[in-house]
Amino acid sequence: MNRKLHISVVALVVVIFAFGAWLNLRHGKPPENGAVGGMVVNASIGGPFELTDHTGARFTDEDLAGDYALIYFGYTFCPDVCPTELGEIAVALDQLDKDADRVRPVMITIDPDRDTAEVLSEYVPLFHERLVGLTGTAEEVREVATSYRVFYRRFEDPNYTYYLMDHTSFVYLLAPSGEIAAMFRYGTPPEDMVTTIRQHMRGNARG
Ligand code: NI
Repeated sequence: MNRKLHISVVALVVVIFAFGAWLNLRHGKPPENGAVGGMVVNASIGGPFELTDHTGARFTDEDLAGDYALIYFGYTFCPDVCPTELGEIAVALDQLDKDADRVRPVMITIDPDRDTAEVLSEYVPLFHERLVGLTGTAEEVREVATSYRVFYRRFEDPNYTYYLMDHTSFVYLLAPSGEIAAMFRYGTPPEDMVTTIRQHMRGNARG
């Protein structure tokens, strides 16, 4: 093909990829290689963190040791996806019944400017009495989000008087060891989360 056409094709491909990446980022469409519920997850995801919980106390990954945890990154001003996903986590916990005692639900804000401990303390009980809200300095949040491969950024939407956040929306299942046992895509039915969690509890899941 001639040089000009070649350049046009390359430019088109770049635009398509950029658009795809943008779509992925916008509210949680996972990257193509993202593992879904029950699949073995890249061991380099996750790790130690140090944050502040919704009561104002320091909270680290060690506070989760020994229990399973369902971790979700979101923000309280989110008009749609975050409340939906937190609602799904609450449903999964209800379905887990007695097994839910072994699972700590956690929301980590990716909007620490607005989501102070006080704001979180009014938000998390709306979803579940045991939901822990975590915030921190911009740097602390950046660190934990980076280790979980969570992308987020602020954007303005003309339909809202306040800014919104683009962010990836996985739910992470942490094993009692602190390692990621599974990742659930946004929209995973609660019963599928329950099945995967129980498989891990019974020790018959991969990973
Ligand atoms: Ni959201």
